[in-house]
Amino acid sequence: MQIKIAPSILSADFSVMGETIKKLEKCGADLIHCDVMDGSFVEPITFGGQMIKNIRPLTKLPLDAHLMIEHPKTQIKFFADAGADIITVHYKACKKISDTYLEETLRLIKSYGVKCGAVVNPDVPVENIFPVFPLCDMVLLMSVYPGYGGQKFIPDVLEKVRKARAYAIEIGRPDMDIEIDGGVTEENAQIIREAGANVLVAGSAVFKSPDMAVAIEKIRG
Ligand code: DX5
Ligand code: ZN
Repeated sequence: MQIKIAPSILSADFSVMGETIKKLEKCGADLIHCDVMDGSFVEPITFGGQMIKNIRPLTKLPLDAHLMIEHPKTQIKFFADAGADIITVHYKACKKISDTYLEETLRLIKSYGVKCGAVVNPDVPVENIFPVFPLCDMVLLMSVYPGYGGQKFIPDVLEKVRKARAYAIEIGRPDMDIEIDGGVTEENAQIIREAGANVLVAGSAVFKSPDMAVAIEKIRG
């Protein structure tokens, strides 16, 4: 299975974002992971659709919009119009609105011709999103509590990755993208890949490295 590395621009210098995007593409990134935070679902506020719109013309790489926001359904149009290639929404943000909100949001994303995914926090069993697996192009399993870069990887997620990969195979989607986000390093990337994840988000591990290309290749393995 193809391993894809998704550097998170949360760790980038926002004042030179355009140059950074071009550099990430040259350094071998497969996707650009865009952490959208609303100051409510998570404490910090980062950026919205305008950032996606502005970086869209600068790269051919898919833009992976990770929405850490309340009421995600209200924002899908803006991210789709801005040019996101994949939009992921949090199970918890949806569940607090209604039991059907996650599925409705995923269907809304797809209606724009954009790929969709569901996200679970470290304390949410992956089984909770099994019902929407058939709708998802990707599932994102958080390996830290969302909100900040540079946190320590929570290894309990590895068992969830194994369960997610087994379930994807069971439903006839063996190639489904399973993404891990939080605390990924050159050191733990191998066990994450071996558990069955194929999309690895890396913020600090890429941006704190003296050579981003080397860091990306080491995480890829
Ligand atoms: C955390 C974000 C992550 C974060 C990862 O809320 O969703 O994408 O940028 O950063 P590192 O790789 O530093 O843990
Ligand atoms: Zn993220």
